[in-house]
Amino acid sequence: MLKLNRRGFLAAAAATVAIRPWSRVLGANSDIRVAVIGVNNIGKTHLMNFPKIPGVRVVGVCDVDSKVLGQRATEFEKEFGAIKQYADLRQVFDDPGVDVVVLAVPNHWHALGTIWACQAGKDVYVEKPCSYNIWEAGQMIKAADKYQRIVQVGIQRRSLDYMQAWFKELQAGALGKINCVRALYYNRRESIGRVAKPQSPPPEVNHDLWSGPAPTPILRNKYHYDWHWYWDIGNGELGNNGPHVLDLARTALGVKEFPRSVWSMGGRYAWDDNGETPNTHIIHYGYEPAPIIMEIRNLPERANTKENTKYRGLGVGIVVDCEHGSYVGFDKGTVYDKAGKAVREITGEVGGDSGRQVHRENFVKALRSRNTSDLNCSLPQGHLSSSLCHLGNISHRLGEPLPLAAANERIQSEPLFGETGRRLVEHLDANQIPLAKTTIELGAALTFDPESQTFPQSPAANGLLKRTYREPYVVPENV
Ligand SMILES: NC(=O)c1ccc[n+]([C@@H]2O[C@H](COP(=O)([O-])OP(=O)(O)OC[C@H]3O[C@@H](n4cnc5c(N)ncnc54)[C@H](O)[C@@H]3O)[C@@H](O)[C@H]2O)c1
Repeated sequence: MLKLNRRGFLAAAAATVAIRPWSRVLGANSDIRVAVIGVNNIGKTHLMNFPKIPGVRVVGVCDVDSKVLGQRATEFEKEFGAIKQYADLRQVFDDPGVDVVVLAVPNHWHALGTIWACQAGKDVYVEKPCSYNIWEAGQMIKAADKYQRIVQVGIQRRSLDYMQAWFKELQAGALGKINCVRALYYNRRESIGRVAKPQSPPPEVNHDLWSGPAPTPILRNKYHYDWHWYWDIGNGELGNNGPHVLDLARTALGVKEFPRSVWSMGGRYAWDDNGETPNTHIIHYGYEPAPIIMEIRNLPERANTKENTKYRGLGVGIVVDCEHGSYVGFDKGTVYDKAGKAVREITGEVGGDSGRQVHRENFVKALRSRNTSDLNCSLPQGHLSSSLCHLGNISHRLGEPLPLAAANERIQSEPLFGETGRRLVEHLDANQIPLAKTTIELGAALTFDPESQTFPQSPAANGLLKRTYREPYVVPENV
C-alpha cells in the first residue's frame, strides 16, 4: 500500500527540500541504486544494461502492467539476481533504497514523473521526448534546479563523441557556409486498424495510472506503443522519432536556442484507422544561418511495396548542404564535395545498445561528479530538441485542410520548403493517393519568441503550449 496520497506525497516532498532524508550525495565509491519505471519495450534495455556499469546496482522495477512487470523481473533475476517490484511509481519515489529512477513510460508521464522524482530527491534518466508539451518541460527544469538533481534526457546520439567532433568542424566552416539542414525519418509503418468504440483496458493493467495526466478512453486495438498516434496521449511520429534526428540537425547547425518560426504541411494517408497524427509530414524551422527542414514518411516508397523511401541514399538521419559540399548520415555518414564525390567518411564507435550504453555511462559520470555540465543531454538541451517536435505539431494542429495543389503552391514562398513539398506530392502520387481529390493540412505559419517561449501573435498556439491535467496527476505550477 502507498504510504502517501498525492497531497501527503507533495507535502513530504516539500519537506525534503530542507532535510532530504533519502537523498544521498554520491561519492566516488558509493553504489548507485537504480529503479527502472516502464519496462515493456525500451525500459527493458535500461533494466538489462544499467547493471553492466561498474558501481551501478539496479534494485527495482516498476510497471502498471502486472504481466510486463512479472516477466521483466523474471528475466532480470535470471541474469542479475533479486529485484524489488513496484506497481505504482509513487512507491519508487517513496523508497529510501532508490537513488535514481529511469523513466521509460509514455510521453505524457515524463514531466510529472521527473518532477515527483526530483521532489523526492532522486536523480532521473528520462526518455525522449523529455516532455509531452513545451510548458511542462520548463517545470521539469525548475524542479531539477530547485532540488539540485541530475537529469539526463534519452537522446543518446549526443554521446557519440566522433559525431559531435565532426559537427564542431562543420560549424567552424569545414564545408563553408551551411545553407540547409534536413532531418529525415522515412520509416514505413502499417495502419493500426479501427475500433468502433472505446475499449476496455487489459485486466492486467492499472489503466488509471497508465493514463495519469491524460484522458482515459482507449481508441486503439494494441494497448502498448500505439498510444503514440493520438494527440491526448502521444506526439505522433514527430515526437516519437523526431527528437533523435532533429537533435542531430540542431547540433550540426550549432544552434542552442529555439527557432523564430515554424511552418508545416502534412496528413494521415492511405490508412483507414483511428490514429490521429500525420503519417506524412514536413516542417520548416526558421533558424539562422540556415533553416532546418524535417521530413516524415510512414508510407512506403510506392504503393504495393515494403521499401522505404530514400533521399540521396538516406532513410533516417540528416543531410547538411553547405557552400562547398554536403554531409549525409546518421550514426555514421559521408562527406561529399561540391561535385557530389565522396571525400570522407565520418565514423566511430557507437558502442552497446545503439549508443544508449555510452549515454548511460555519461549519466553515471554526472551522477558521481554532481555536475550537470558533465551531462551530454541535460534537460535544457533535451527540452530544445523535444520542443522542436511540439512546435511542428502545434503548427499542424492549427492548420487548415486545403486541396493538395493549393497548399503546395502556398509553401513555394520558401524555396527550400517548396522543393520539399514538391517531393512530398510525388511521394503521395507514388502511393496512389488520388491527388486531385486529396486535401492536406497546411499548418499555421507561426512566429515564436525564444525568450518567453510563446507565440507572440497566436493565442490559439499559446493554448497548445500546455494541457489540461487530469486530477490528481497535475504538473504543479509551483514545483
Ligand atoms: N531513446 C530511444 O532510443 C527510445 C526508443 C524507444 C522508445 N523511447 C521512449 O521511451 C518511452 C517508452 O517507449 P516504449 O516504446 O517503451 O513504450 P511502451 O508503450 O511499449 O512501454 C511503456 C511501458 O510503460 C508502462 N507504464 C505506463 N505508465 C506507467 C506508469 N505510470 N508507471 C509505470 N509504468 C507505466 C506501460 O505499462 C508499458 O509497459 C517513450 O517516451 C518513447 O518515446 C526511446
